[in-house]
Amino acid sequence: MKGVVLAGGLGTRLRSLTRITNKHLLPVYDQPMIFYPLQKLAEAGVVDVMLVTGGSSAGDFLRLLGDGSRFGLESLNYAYQEREGGIAEAIGLARGFVGDDRFVVILGDNIMECSLRPYLEPYERQESGARVLLYEVENPSDYGVAEMDGDSVVSIEEKPRQPKSNLAVIGVYMYDGYAFEVIEDLEPSDRGELEVTDVNNAYRERGLLKADVIEGWWADCGASIDSLLRANLRVARMKGWKEEDTP
Ligand code: DAU
Repeated sequence: MKGVVLAGGLGTRLRSLTRITNKHLLPVYDQPMIFYPLQKLAEAGVVDVMLVTGGSSAGDFLRLLGDGSRFGLESLNYAYQEREGGIAEAIGLARGFVGDDRFVVILGDNIMECSLRPYLEPYERQESGARVLLYEVENPSDYGVAEMDGDSVVSIEEKPRQPKSNLAVIGVYMYDGYAFEVIEDLEPSDRGELEVTDVNNAYRERGLLKADVIEGWWADCGASIDSLLRANLRVARMKGWKEEDTP
């Protein structure tokens, strides 16, 4: 399975931190944010990866990440997204890299405690379709929200005013080549973006979208300054930092 990490977008919700740099280069405790998804993929055995980014900091990613070998990757490839056309548009740029393989997409601002391995395995066994990961949240309206029947997704809505569940769709998506066919025909949403939720809905409409609820904590570091702060604290504590020991 191949891996695709998305690190484009404008990061407007983190201004002024993102005025002159890309959100994914900001620190989360002792590492730049973008290290975490790359480490997550490598640790799960996904070692051929494409990073999609854009804007004026794109060259910084090359200088920072190089060929990806320090993360244990066999190859790290890069694609440039010309404008912030949405998550689905960014995924579409990986078509040539992915070829006929299945692939896992991870949003560069998502950090999770759990390994991805236990969730990639059921997808490898899944005959066809897509698989997404869910996390129980108190503020589902801020995310894509899924309604489940067993392990099948029966509805999925992007940032709904009246969410049908408290299960947020986190930024990890497992797809086959059908995703690229869907993306090719997608129309931009009201906010002018090709939406990943529309890709997931295309699978769901065919009864081909499965999901698992993850164990451990998850953070969308890019949702707000507060969520970035919380992610920093969670990672720091996980790595043994104690506020009371800090001078
Ligand atoms: O974090 C999970 C949420 O991520 C999901 O629950 C939502 O369904 C999904 O739409 C997404 O929502 P966000 O509002 O958090 O998306 P955001 O615009 O912050 O972009 C998420 C990542 O995708 C971020 O790491 C940057 C990257 N991205 C985004 C856009 C719009 C790109 O690479 N290119 C883009 O054009």
